[in-house]
Amino acid sequence: MQIYLDTADLNEIRAAHELGVLRGVTTNPSHMYKAGHRDFRRAIQDICAIADIPVSAEVTAPDTAGMLAQAREMATWHPNVVVKMPTTPVGLRAMRVFSREEQAGHSTAINATVVFSPGQAVAASLAGAGYVSPFVGRLDAVGQEGIQLVRDIAEIFMVHDVPTRIISAALRNPIHVSESFKAGAHICTMAFAVLEQLLRHPLTDEAVQLFTKDWEKLQATEAGAAARA
Ligand code: E4P
Repeated sequence: MQIYLDTADLNEIRAAHELGVLRGVTTNPSHMYKAGHRDFRRAIQDICAIADIPVSAEVTAPDTAGMLAQAREMATWHPNVVVKMPTTPVGLRAMRVFSREEQAGHSTAINATVVFSPGQAVAASLAGAGYVSPFVGRLDAVGQEGIQLVRDIAEIFMVHDVPTRIISAALRNPIHVSESFKAGAHICTMAFAVLEQLLRHPLTDEAVQLFTKDWEKLQATEAGAAARA
């Protein structure tokens, strides 16, 4: 049961790491664009320097040969890099080749991304992916229950004793996170805003404020003075 941050924003990654909850980072080209990173390699290395955790970097080439070239290059950037490849026929071909090279030499794992069906998850696992990423929130957005996809993949992997790990992705709120873990996701990757929502509860804030006020009142009484003496 692990929490990853789904961002390329260095400040958010630092903040989540300081909280003690961060076990990985997933990036994608959109995150890179939003965070204003021009140098992809530098950005991934800067993220890797924050914490000793897996960091997914996504290939962008439209063809298998291009994806493989990018994956091989990314594998040299840092030992914690995980290469993200799309779960398409083109991506699957790249996964097959890259995962064999992984066994033969480097230890860079594959995160099969943009998964929207159990069949894609099975195919990615067979092609050599160490992780599959079902996009929960994007399914909800088109009226299909995203958590059910996580549940289905988890059941298939459990029944067949498949070691591929499930990263529940495109999570929009804390309920997506708790339901994903209940459904069998090993990892939930989320935006920093969702992590903040996950950690906060108004009743917790209220209780802490009340305890602080009562403690201050106690300090002002004679009993408090005696205790300090
Ligand atoms: C996962 O690894 C993806 O980066 C991610 O969750 C993208 O989904 P979103 O852009 O819909 O949030």
